Amino acid sequence: MADFQPLVFSGVQPTGNLHLGNYLGALKRFVALQATHRCIYCVVDLHAITNTLPESPQALRAATREVAAAFIACGIDPQANIVFNQSQVSGHAELAWVFNCVARMGWLSRMTQFKDKAGKDRENASVGLFDYPALMAADILVYRATHVPVGDDQKQHLELARDIAQKFNVDFAAAIKAEGHGEAYFPLPEPLIQGPATRVMSLREGKKKMSKSDASDNSRINLSDSTDQIAQKVRRARTDADNLPTEIAGLAARPEADNLVGIYAALADVTKPDVLRQFGNGQFSTFKAALADLAIAKLGPIAAEMRRLNADQAYIDGVLRDGANRARALATPTIDQVKDIVGFLR
Ligand code: TRP
Repeated sequence: MADFQPLVFSGVQPTGNLHLGNYLGALKRFVALQATHRCIYCVVDLHAITNTLPESPQALRAATREVAAAFIACGIDPQANIVFNQSQVSGHAELAWVFNCVARMGWLSRMTQFKDKAGKDRENASVGLFDYPALMAADILVYRATHVPVGDDQKQHLELARDIAQKFNVDFAAAIKAEGHGEAYFPLPEPLIQGPATRVMSLREGKKKMSKSDASDNSRINLSDSTDQIAQKVRRARTDADNLPTEIAGLAARPEADNLVGIYAALADVTKPDVLRQFGNGQFSTFKAALADLAIAKLGPIAAEMRRLNADQAYIDGVLRDGANRARALATPTIDQVKDIVGFLR
């Protein structure tokens, strides 16, 4: 296969209420990747209207700015890398159209996220919800990105992006060669899994994922929470009556304890056995106090920076516009070349 320069692409939906799960599962990893890769981080506003329409245009704009502010507050450098919102670069939607004609109904029908989100009432799901993975493939491939940091729940979509890239390369093989691109026009993007996956669960129910849409705000730590709120939520987090175990095996049937130990490990950049070596056999209250301090130390400065940035809309909008200009400069040649490969006059 042709050589593609390593490039990271990932996206976060602007749907409000960014929380600890987003931080540990995505943002913190995005920050780390800057040390080794060129990175493009996108606020995927086109995806944000696929499931439910936003409450209002104001709400969508605010949520878009909030994700951009979170990127920057967590330590993503928008000058060294690219931070922008998807809808400003029309190449995403244009390439998605071509991919709609490459992807098969059967492939999209098998996506578990679609089945979960559409539920029983499939007739009433938006076409956009069904087509979501084709747009996601376009997000990545319009930059011919090679590496995509994603959580477990998005792996199936990334597989689909690879299938689409592969089928495009095969379906258009003759034109790809004739246009001078060799054997393959698109890379097959790979998932980037850094370290053990951190699945952050609800603070109220250890078997449910921490979620922005949970009715109980106590179930999650929002990136915008004050230090008092963080401390209180950790203190109130559900636990069982036993002390912490000293061995990992002792967490097996204790999802709430396991979750808190996992959060501590991820925030402190240590392993769960490390945490149990330090806190095993001790009272839960001691551990929770240490966890609250750690969470405040790590998240407090991020929340403060987000508040500062949220008050400076012009700066955020400027970052997104500048990022979009640079993203567009990368996407445009892809769109032109795809047009030539497919046979659209330009
Ligand atoms: N589907 C991703 C999510 O919900 C967001 C996303 C959109 C994305 N486009 C992407 C992630 C491209 C990685 C690459 O988390």
